[in-house]
Amino acid sequence: MERILGIETSCDETSAAVLSITAGRPSLDSLVILSQDVHALFGGVVPELASRAHLKSIMPVVDRALADAGVGLEQLDGIAVTAGPGLIGALLVGLSYGKTLAWRAGLPLIGVHHMEGHLFAPTLEHPELSPPFVALLVSGGHTMLLRVPEWGRYQLLGQTRDDAAGEAFDKVAKLLELGYPGGPVIEKLAREGDPARYRFPRPMLGAEGPDRFTFSFSGLKTSVLRAVRQSEDLAADRAHLARGFQDAAIEVLVEKTALAAEEFGVETVVLGGGVACNRTLVEQMGERVAPWARVYAATPRLNTDNAAMIAAAGAWHLAQGHRSDWSLEASDHLPLPGLVAGTPAEAVA
Ligand code: KG4
Ligand code: ZN
Repeated sequence: MERILGIETSCDETSAAVLSITAGRPSLDSLVILSQDVHALFGGVVPELASRAHLKSIMPVVDRALADAGVGLEQLDGIAVTAGPGLIGALLVGLSYGKTLAWRAGLPLIGVHHMEGHLFAPTLEHPELSPPFVALLVSGGHTMLLRVPEWGRYQLLGQTRDDAAGEAFDKVAKLLELGYPGGPVIEKLAREGDPARYRFPRPMLGAEGPDRFTFSFSGLKTSVLRAVRQSEDLAADRAHLARGFQDAAIEVLVEKTALAAEEFGVETVVLGGGVACNRTLVEQMGERVAPWARVYAATPRLNTDNAAMIAAAGAWHLAQGHRSDWSLEASDHLPLPGLVAGTPAEAVA
């Protein structure tokens, strides 16, 4: 049995988790997620405030995760910590703390790519999930369509040209004066909206060649902005606008992912990242590929930023014999490890 401590501080959640793996099956012994609500006051994450809040909470959060799991440092087999991408000051807090603990306890250390963490999240609840599959990772900072022939080997099929999918939800929520983060409020409001009231463009849908897997969300956001300005009664139109936006965004995400799954002949589709909390996205994806593929998405607590997914990805790397050394640094532009060469992946931020 291997027991891994995971630490995640890339954005506005301070999180720690203890994960045990027995004969390949994960068991989550503890998970603590402390969300920094201060950012709601500013309508978005304020990096300086995020770093300070992480600094205040990192020790009690890790202590609590160890206590909840009923273990001490000496009972761990390794420490996995998010090394990037993310807010550099925020990353530094978790990384420095993880490094210090590993040094003190003489434990192997592994730096984890935040998006690889999101990719591993569904394995926590579905240990049977295994490649080959196509994965759509959609968060506040990234939109990545990946082909995964095996764990640790990733072909980046497409990403966004401008705004990330989650960022689009957040920006549209701001236009509709719904506060931050925008995804959950838009999803809720969209349920009351009339799908026929606004029909927004489906950006890049139907694009050919390498762009068939490319996303773009800033034009969609501009279309919503125009509709908001033209609205004579925003209070009455808000739900319809949310519905129109969400339908457009989800259709593009679902269609491109289904196209990739079809093209590469896979029977498994993985959805990950904060936007994968969206039930409509998960349901529509499931319906779209139902004849030939199964869709895996973690529950919301494991889809938004958390340390359990970092422990899961870290545990896999540690089991492969991968180790980070003490020179491990936080990086806001960390490339995904294991990218298959010769793809648009080389440009990944
Ligand atoms: O993965 P995540 O927790 O943090 C980053 O790595 O960025 O993703 C956060 C993003 C935010 O943009 C948030 O609005 C979005 O995920 N999100 C959602 C939903 N819940 C969170 N987007 C759409 N529908 C949701 N239900
Ligand atoms: Zn994330």
